[in-house]
Amino acid sequence: MKIAVYPGSFDPVTNGHIDIINRAAKIFDLVHVAIIVNPEKTPYFGIDERMNMLKAAVGGIKKAKVDSFDGLLVDYAASKKACAIVRGLRAVSDFDYEFQMALTNLRMCPEIETIFIMTDYKYSYLSSSLVKQISSLGGNVSGLVPDSVLKKLKSRKRS
Ligand code: PNS
Repeated sequence: MKIAVYPGSFDPVTNGHIDIINRAAKIFDLVHVAIIVNPEKTPYFGIDERMNMLKAAVGGIKKAKVDSFDGLLVDYAASKKACAIVRGLRAVSDFDYEFQMALTNLRMCPEIETIFIMTDYKYSYLSSSLVKQISSLGGNVSGLVPDSVLKKLKSRKRS
């Protein structure tokens, strides 16, 4: 059984992330979509909110499971018996950070490969930060995020 971990902040999950999860699920038997609990940056949405939005969004993808983790990613991946870490690559600007992370993780855990999936061109400009900014300034983000996120962003604006 080929198991992968797709880690991230998912603050919030976007349709770009969902595209990567769908495509990873075609390659692997099981994809653990793993939300980091304590990133260095303070998240906009708490861990429970991010988990709920992601669960609602990937409910239809049978081979994907939503989970959370803290500590080292390679330790988490090893605990799930994953052979790969999946990351999405948008533009060249992602490369430096991803290259550094992939090589650091490989040094710590040579058994786990990092696999990059190119983001669909439709989402190549999309990021969670842009979504939060547009939404908080009153813009429309429908089509960019799953419905579960759209609802949450709207309720956040009202409160
Ligand atoms: O969605 P993000 O914010 O780009 O995801 C970054 C993430 C969660 C993959 C990265 O910060 C991470 O793996 N954190 C766990 C700590 C760790 O293992 N650090 C060493 C890897 S270089």
